[in-house]
This record gives sequence, structure tokens and C-alpha cells, in this order.
Amino acid sequence: MKRLLRRFLVFIASVLTISAQAQSLQSDNGTTAPDWENPALLGINKLPYHATLQLPSRWKECKEIVSLDGEWQFHWSRKPEERPENFYREDYDASGWDKIKVPGNWQTQGFGTPIYTNIDYPFKRNRPSVTSEPPRDWTAYENRNPVGSYVTFFDVTKEMRSHNLILHFGGVHSAFYVWVNGQKVGYSQNSMSPAEFDVTKFVREGSNKLAVEVYRWCDGSYLEDQDMWRLSGIFREVQLWVRPLVHIADYHVTAVPDKDFTQANVTADIAICNTAGKSAKKMKAVLKIDGKTIAGQLKNLAAGDTTHIRLTYLINQPKLWSAEKPNLYPFSIELIDKKGNVAEHFDYHLGVKRVECVGEVFKINGKNVKLRGVNRHDHHPLTGRYVDDATYEKDIRLMKQANINFLRTSHYPDREYLYELCDRWGLYVMDEANQESHGYGYANEEMGHDAAWCDAHVDRAESLVKRDFNHPCVILWSLGNEGGVGPNIQAMYDKVCQLDSTRLPFYDCHPRYSALHDYGYPTPEVLKREAEKETEKPLIAREYAHAMGNSMGNLQEYWDVIYADSSIAGAAIWDWVDQGLVKKDNGVEFFAYGGDYGDKPNLDAFCLNGLLAPDRKPHPHYYEVQHVYQPIHFELHDNRLRIVNRDFFTDVSEYDIVCDTTVIDGERLLNVSARLKEDKPWAKKGFVVASEQFVLSSYDFPEAIKTLRPATSPLASKDTAKHVTIDGNNLVSWIVDGNEMLQAPLEPYFWKPENDNQHAAGFARSSAGWKEATDVTVKYTVINDHSILVELDYHPTGTDKPLLPKLGMRMRLPADFTAIEYYGRGPWENYPDRKRSAFLGRYKTPLSEYETEYIHPQDNGCRTDVRWFCITNGKKALRIDGLQPLCIRAWDYGEEDLEGVRHPHEIKRDRFVNLNIDLNIHGVGGVDSWGQPTLPQYTIDGNKPYHFGFILDWQ
Ligand code: GAL
Ligand code: MG
Repeated sequence: MKRLLRRFLVFIASVLTISAQAQSLQSDNGTTAPDWENPALLGINKLPYHATLQLPSRWKECKEIVSLDGEWQFHWSRKPEERPENFYREDYDASGWDKIKVPGNWQTQGFGTPIYTNIDYPFKRNRPSVTSEPPRDWTAYENRNPVGSYVTFFDVTKEMRSHNLILHFGGVHSAFYVWVNGQKVGYSQNSMSPAEFDVTKFVREGSNKLAVEVYRWCDGSYLEDQDMWRLSGIFREVQLWVRPLVHIADYHVTAVPDKDFTQANVTADIAICNTAGKSAKKMKAVLKIDGKTIAGQLKNLAAGDTTHIRLTYLINQPKLWSAEKPNLYPFSIELIDKKGNVAEHFDYHLGVKRVECVGEVFKINGKNVKLRGVNRHDHHPLTGRYVDDATYEKDIRLMKQANINFLRTSHYPDREYLYELCDRWGLYVMDEANQESHGYGYANEEMGHDAAWCDAHVDRAESLVKRDFNHPCVILWSLGNEGGVGPNIQAMYDKVCQLDSTRLPFYDCHPRYSALHDYGYPTPEVLKREAEKETEKPLIAREYAHAMGNSMGNLQEYWDVIYADSSIAGAAIWDWVDQGLVKKDNGVEFFAYGGDYGDKPNLDAFCLNGLLAPDRKPHPHYYEVQHVYQPIHFELHDNRLRIVNRDFFTDVSEYDIVCDTTVIDGERLLNVSARLKEDKPWAKKGFVVASEQFVLSSYDFPEAIKTLRPATSPLASKDTAKHVTIDGNNLVSWIVDGNEMLQAPLEPYFWKPENDNQHAAGFARSSAGWKEATDVTVKYTVINDHSILVELDYHPTGTDKPLLPKLGMRMRLPADFTAIEYYGRGPWENYPDRKRSAFLGRYKTPLSEYETEYIHPQDNGCRTDVRWFCITNGKKALRIDGLQPLCIRAWDYGEEDLEGVRHPHEIKRDRFVNLNIDLNIHGVGGVDSWGQPTLPQYTIDGNKPYHFGFILDWQ
């Protein structure tokens, strides 16, 4: 009965394919909408989705796979009507065309315009059309759906002709047609998932012409409205799979542990298909695992049929897979022919784990694991949406080193190799379907309810789960991001649940479609409140801590909340890497963002939200994440060190705990660290996984009185003492050894440029009054020829003063003062709300590294808790000693140079050194970059009095 039913299904499927083809023929006449503006048509002649059959790291050595990657011929057209229509024909000579690298995007190779947009569709919203007339100044006005025409040739040997030949495209943006030797093979959309076509009947021995026509946009683009660079082309691998006529079409292997994890039931569901003209007999499907071979007989497989074989195996006392202990069971799946020869062999690996929600508690392997997460776009500054293996390795290594244990593949499936790395090195993955219709609004009803788009939604869920099914790292299947709600999403949800019961479904737009309840971008307080309210499902912040520009304040505050409430599963930072693209203007290379290509519409610098720069150089806040996410926490109580282990599957004894006491200028510091006892794939033995610093006996800040001779009295304003000139609150001249040391006065200065978060919160507007410092008195006391005591008093006269950007002073020194040494927090930039990873120490650094170069220039470079600071030109040095901890920023440009430029290379530099010496500075903020202010405890109340002081000394 079952067999019959299956055949019947096969029959229906082929009818569908035929009708689909008919549709495409119609469209060729121009009588109906083209395939790429028809949401009912998702592909023509596409083979069913299936699991990645071979571990990506083995692809190169796999005899079944011929790579077609390389340089192809390429032609770019502004719009479909201008495309070279007949280029696929054998008699069409494309040898004079440009060359393009496959895989790659065409915009990053000089063709067309990259567009960075967030919510707005880059074309006129009028579904399913992607070619309706947009405003005149939009990129898509002139370039109304560009088309890339690709040609390459591949060889087929006589031996290969006796096989089943499958053309595999790892990812093509956004829709494409394929021809082989002038014959139409098929069509596909759903750009982030593989598309495969059986080309056996189209190839011939010798050279074969492969022609691919790619459309920048298609109806599918309405479901691909992710906040990212909109890039096009064949951006993932192209392969020719040379398969036996009877072969493994698919296999899904699951390992389900029993209640107390003493045994795991392994099930391999292997699909074998027969593409030959006659039935196949007496074959065997084999699972080799754990030193055992489990075989299943295939007595007779009719021509054109597909059958499933289920093999089972029991693992006793399984070693569980987790991000902490990524224990894998390598296995292979083989197909044995009737003579006993191995017809096919694939290698993979299995992880035994359980993911579940028990009431409102999220559990992995029975433990309330916390997901210390990050979101990641598949982005490379040179190759755009194509990210090479080495960059994947670097990313996953840097994540592991930062104690990140959870990765959300926002907002679509990445290349297969990434998942293999997560399996091996240990990262929990939320694998996300390529579904976002944000242009219709978050949780919109339009796309979620429009029945014409149901299949298009489901296709994206199916392709996700089917491809990545065998990766142990996947714990959650996400239905997409910022998409619709309604029956179409319900259908995605049902599909995911039907395909896999061993992982949980997730969706951000409504908990109805999700095992976990999502709350994006809460403040720490809101997160706490929401978790307390939550009674049914675990809570997760699938995005939080928006890391745009100089950001990532108050991260510890989040984690205090997360660790305190068992109903919070975790949270994932937005996001991993700045989406900047390398651009060259007038010989200068820089990272471009929205608008830099004249792209319209665009959302400017909003794509720069990473913990890393596009070239993977960590930003200062990367280290803050590393610290706050550390699994080991140290506390010091009454001289006893307490170690708290936040992990569940790793014992503290697996680390070397190192305690180091140092004394710096009389201050006793205890530095504690937990280090790897052995090499890991992502770090060497000795790598510091966790660390903390304790002050054992505090620094003795100089007291104003002690440093002065009793008779010294402050200078009055308009006073000149020896080589010092005062004007009002300002020190306007200071001659040392006959040279003027000030390039601009030392003056009270409360202004600071905004960072991106502050810009969004309207900080500059609300605090604009502080461009002029008022209600302030500065007292200068000359100690001797070369040193002065400076004391600032702020006494607000009103009661409704806005927050102070900073409380302190500014001065400018000659430009050659470029070497810095200080005792304070470092070595990297730190601010009051982002300083836990920056330990007290004596740091030496050139001015250029004291600054932080953000791709979108903004306030930067602060060091907090500075005891003393010294800056020199090699001949003379200025030392600053705080009477209390200081915040100091030093730049080779001024505030006005930083404000209003778009890129670092546009900043006017090197005319002076700008020094800000402050009691305090407004925190960077760390909730979102669309309005949330810095948490109140990290701001400076303008309605309170302040006093602070420091000593300047020329040495
Ligand atoms: C989120 C969205 C992300 C990104 C982010 C802002 O709401 O899911 O894709 O747009 O906002 O950077
Ligand atoms: Mg969005």
C-alpha cells in the first residue's frame, strides 16, 4: 500500500513539474507574469531538498564531486529587457565577455551597485512585481532588476556518462535559469539554499556548455528583506555530482537519548533512489558507527523509484554532545551493490543530545544551559555574501575564544562548512530560515495570510531543515526573522515539526509558532520583568545588546538578570561583524556602508553593528563580551577566592587556576585566571578562558594639600606667574624651557561627540547646551616651574540641567606628542559602563592605538580609572596625576574634526594632540541604537555639584 502511495505521489510530482514548465513557456511569450514574478512558481525541475551528504571538509576528496567553481564568462544587464536573450545557445559566442569569479557576488566584482537597506525593499513594493516604477532617485529606477548572464564549460568523460549527473548550486541570489548545451534544464529561487538539477540527459561526452541567467530580484525577494547588503549572483559553490544510477538520495540520522542518558537510540533513515532504466536488486544500505556495521537489505528497487531503509543502533553510556564537550560519533553511510562493492560512501558525524523546554525552563542534556549568544550575517568585506572556509574558521575560533556558546545564523542558512565547525568545536546553533518580509512590517498579516505565498514560505522551512538535519550543533529551527504572522507561518511551523522532533521550533514574531518566547532588545530591567511575568515558555532575547559603533555598555547588568532567572534561556548580541565592504576612492581603501555607492534607498551606517570590524579585527567591546560571557566567575570574600562555574559539563579542575599578585605604584592587585590545560581546536593550552582582578590595597592618590608647599596659593584669573598665563578659567600659555607647550588652552570642557547610540537617542540635541561649560570655576596652583595643580568645581545654578556629556577639561598639545604610558584600565578602550574586561595595569601605547578607529567616526578611546597618564614626544613628557581616578581620551584630531565626517580617512589629523581629562564621562549605552539612552547609573547628573583635580607636570 505504502509503495503504491509513494508511486502515486511521484506521479503527482511529475504532473506538477510539467505544469510548472508549461507556465514558464507561457511566460516566454510574455503573456503572463514571468516566473520570477510568480509566487506560485518556486522552481522548475528542481530535485528534492536533502541533507548535506558528505561532510563539507571532505568535499575536495570526495570522488563524487566535481567542482565547477572558477572564472566564468559574465555579462551584466541593467534590466531584463536588455539581457542577451540567446546567450545559452551553443552558437552564441560569449568569449568576449567579462570574467567573473564563481562563487562571488557581481557587485563586489565591479558590476552594478551594492545596496544597503534595512526595512525598505530596494525595489518598489508591489508584490509580486519587482519591476514596478520606484522613485526616480532609487538605484532600482535605472537598474530595474539587473540580470547576470553566466557561461562556463565543463568536461564529461565517457565513464561519467554512465552515471547520474546532478548539477548543484549552493546559493544563487535571487532567481536563476539553467541551460546545458542550449537546452533548458530548470529554474530556481530561495537564494540561500541549494538548488539541484538532474542533467544526465543534457550532457554529452567532451565539453559541455553551462549557461546560467540570474535575476537580481524575484518574487522570492519579498521574503528576503533582511537588514543587509543586497547583493546578487552565484555566490556559493557550483558542483557536478557524479553519482551511480542507483544512489543515496538522502539520509537523516537521529540519536535520541533515554530519560537518564544511559542509552541513545540511533536511527538512520536512508533514501535510495534508482535513476536507472531497470530495477535494482539485492543492494544493501549500511551504517557504520562506533566500530559496528548495521546493514539493511534492498531486495528490489523499481526503475525510477525511491525507497527508504531504516537502520537502528543502540549506544550504551553515550558521550553526550554539547557546546562544552562536542563529543561526536563519526559514522559513514554506504550503498553496497549486489556484487558486494561499495557503490557510494559518505562520512558524517553524530552528536547525542537532548534539547527541551520543561515548563518555562530551557534545557540541554537535562541542564538549564544559558545561551551566551551572538547573531551573525554571512559577510565578507571583499567577497560579500561569499565567506571562505578560512574566514569561517576565524569566526568560530573568535567566538569560542569569546566564550560565546550560541550562534544564530541570522537570517538564513549559511554555508554548510560553518555548521561542521560548530559541530566539531562546539557551538549551539539556531539555524534560521531565509524568511523576512519586514518591508510589510514586523509580524505583518499581509505576507502571513496571503495564501498565494504559502508554498513560498514553507519551501524555506523545508529547505532549511532538510539540508542541515544531520548537524548536531543545531538546537533550534527558526522560521525566519521579522516576517509575517498567520496561516503561512503556521504552515512553516507544522512543516518543521513534521520533519524533526528532536529540535525545537522558534519564531520571533509570535510565541504561537515558537517553543520559546522571544523578547528583542529589552533593557536589563525589562528583561527581568518579562521573565518574571513568563509562566509558560522559556524566554530568550534572540537579539539584544545592539553593538553598533562604540557600544556594548551594561552587558553585565543583562547577565546578572539572566543568571538569576531560570526561565531565561539566554540572549544573542546583535551582531558579530560590521558589514562594511572594501571600497577604493582616489587610491584610498576604506570600509563602505550604506550610501557610499550612491545606493538608494539606504540606511547609512546601520549595517555596522559588529563585535568585529569587517576584516575580523576585534573591537574593544569584543573583549567585554569575552569577559562577561566567561563560564568561570571569581569572587573574593575575606581573602578567600570563590570560584563559580556557570557551565554544566566542564569541571573547574579542567582549568589551571592562576593567581598573580602585582604591586603597581603601591597598589596591590590580584589577577586571577582560568586557563586551558590542553590545546583545543580554537585555542592553545594556557589560553585564558576567564579572569578577574581584585584590588587588595588601594592606590594612594596624591592629596592636594600634601603636594603643595604650605605657602603656595592659587593664581587669580588674568594672572601670570613665571611662565604660566591664566585667563578666566583657562590656562592659556605655559612656557617650559623656552617653548610654548599648549597648542590650545586647558579649559573646562563638558562636550563630547556622540556615538551612534547617543545619536539615535538625540543626545546631542538634549545636551547641546554643554558645548559651552557653565557654572564652573577652575583653580590653578603653581607648584613649581614645571608643575601645576588644577582643581575644577562645578556648582549648578539651576535645577533642570540636562545630563553632562562629560565632566572635565580639555587641552591641546603639539602634534609630536604621540607616545603614551598610563596606569589605569586597559589595554583597550573602556568607558564607565564597559570596563569590566579592562584591568588596571601600566600600559604603553602609541597614540594611534590609544584611539579606536570606528568605521563610522564617533567618540572613542576613553580609558577610565586612570591614576596617572604620561604623553611624550621623546624629549619632553607631560605627566598627569589624578587626585582621584580620571577618564582620559587622547586623539590626533579634535571634536570638530570627528563630528560630521563619514569615514576615518576623512578626519583631519596631525595638527595637535587633543587631550580630555575628566572626572567622568557619559557611558556608551548598550540596549539599542534607535532611542534607548545610556542606563542612568552611567550618566552624569547636571544638577549635582562636582569637584575634581589633577596635577600637570612637565618632565
Ligand atoms: C533587528 C533585526 C536585525 C537588524 C537589527 C538592527 O530587529 O532583526 O536584522 O535589523 O534589528 O540592526
Ligand atoms: Mg529587519
